[in-house]
Amino acid sequence: MALVENGRTLGVIGMGVMGQTILKGLLQSGALTPDHAWGTSRSAKTCEAVAAAIGVPVEPNIRERLGSAGVLVLCVKPAQVPAALSAVKAAGTLRPGTLLISIAAGVDLQQLANLLGTVNPWVRAMPNTPCVVGEGMTAICPGEHATSAHLAQARQVFECVGMVAETEERHFDAITALSGSGPAYQYLIMEAMADAGVRVGLPRDLALTLVAQTARGAARMVQTSGRHPAALRDDVTTPAGCTIGGLLMLEDGKIRSVLARAIEEATRIAAKLGPAGTPK
Ligand SMILES: NC(=O)c1ccc[n+]([C@@H]2O[C@H](COP(=O)([O-])OP(=O)(O)OC[C@H]3O[C@@H](n4cnc5c(N)ncnc54)[C@H](OP(=O)(O)O)[C@@H]3O)[C@@H](O)[C@H]2O)c1
Repeated sequence: MALVENGRTLGVIGMGVMGQTILKGLLQSGALTPDHAWGTSRSAKTCEAVAAAIGVPVEPNIRERLGSAGVLVLCVKPAQVPAALSAVKAAGTLRPGTLLISIAAGVDLQQLANLLGTVNPWVRAMPNTPCVVGEGMTAICPGEHATSAHLAQARQVFECVGMVAETEERHFDAITALSGSGPAYQYLIMEAMADAGVRVGLPRDLALTLVAQTARGAARMVQTSGRHPAALRDDVTTPAGCTIGGLLMLEDGKIRSVLARAIEEATRIAAKLGPAGTPK
């Protein structure tokens, strides 16, 4: 099934890191052709630069293009959502059937629908930055007027840049903390392990190569083996060996509760990320 049909287009609002990544992913995967894609951003400078880099129209004024849109992907910061949706409303050309997808953290489906004030279908999504390398993890959930076909369209968008999981909106703050913020935690762990490699005598480049590929390999083991991480860990743990010694030190440092508390705190903050003055 084509992502947009009958001459409709897909527009991306907000040409920052995520907006550009999603648009590029859609084009590179062939899910969308350049003549069916467009973008918009607040500043003319950003629009010009992105249009030149990606090769699709990117303009601050959306009035004309909005009317052709079958799908709109909202990729502005949470605090910028009210202004971006005001501009959509003010353009006056949005079709009632156009699917809107928001990736803004902490802005829930009710707030999005209230801000736009139309009966358009909405899908809420939470991607992460590894979308840049086609290895993103995106959770999606449907709003009140979204059908299974709309959810399938949203899935198609994010499958261009990684994996997709369908879930319920009540999980979104936790997902924002776990996989939205998750890459930052993984980077910190990898940085610390690479530093540790340097501490025990390895050249930094080699240490980082070892750590990054080990993280990737371990992730693939968890994804493909169908086994619990604890069972995989047991496989590497020889009695009286070095791995069990290292694991003991991690447990002494309370690594489990530190990670759990970090996710708990990030979840709490995610719940408050919506734009000020927009009731939930
Ligand atoms: N980065 C992540 O890891 C991540 C992960 C998951 C979800 N998200 C969500 O993704 C969204 C975007 O994040 P990001 O990191 O891509 O942010 P970003 O790089 O700051 O991009 C946002 C862009 O929106 C544009 N913009 C601001 N107000 C606008 C308006 N009224 N109309 C049109 N464009 C406007 C800005 O463009 P100008 O240059 O034109 O001002 C800016 O480049 C956020 O809501 C965030 O919660 C991000």
